[in-house]
Amino acid sequence: MIDIYEAIKKRRSVRLYKEKKIENAVLNRILEAARLAPSANNVQGYKLIIVKDSQKRQQLAKAGLYQSFISQAPIIIVGVAVNPELDQTSENPFYAIDLAIAFDHLTLVAASEGLGTCWIGAFKQDKVKKILEIPEKCKVIVLMPIGFPDDKPKNRSRKSLKELIYYEKFSNRIGLGAWVDII
Ligand SMILES: Cc1cc2nc3c(=O)[nH]c(=O)nc-3n(C[C@H](O)[C@H](O)[C@H](O)COP(=O)(O)O)c2cc1C
Repeated sequence: MIDIYEAIKKRRSVRLYKEKKIENAVLNRILEAARLAPSANNVQGYKLIIVKDSQKRQQLAKAGLYQSFISQAPIIIVGVAVNPELDQTSENPFYAIDLAIAFDHLTLVAASEGLGTCWIGAFKQDKVKKILEIPEKCKVIVLMPIGFPDDKPKNRSRKSLKELIYYEKFSNRIGLGAWVDII
């Protein structure tokens, strides 16, 4: 186990996997991290479908747009919002936000267990639903391959804090303290 800052720094999108299987105990720890994630009104209005079957993984890879690599991973976890139409408490789509937080927990614990993941957002909704027999009213938000990395992806660049942070109001780049530079 590594600490949370190390896991954040270590996590990369992995697009090449070894065939090696993931032990159930490890998978359970990763899923537990998703289960403990916060959600709007604590509703957890989603399901995570664990796909190990090789034929289904290949079908899911074909349902992705240029994502053939995902079938190499021993497991694909599919994040499904169960009732997105009922999510009208906010202008923002809580059903997607909830799943994003759950999957972020999942990716960080996976990284700390030495596993790689990749968020896949480009796929054909209807095809994934058909393959996994997901009801029409649901919405598939993410496919996530998970497995032992067969690659060491380089760090992707990120914007600097200076580019991301405003102080007190939109567009104000001048802070009252230089705390951002200290982090
Ligand atoms: C919402 C979302 C959708 C993404 N969709 C895809 C995708 O369809 N295919 C893919 O290969 N990577 C996808 N990614 C991975 C990003 O390309 C990747 O996170 C980004 O380039 C930064 O690289 P890193 O994860 O290694 O830090 C997605 C990431 C997010 C957060």
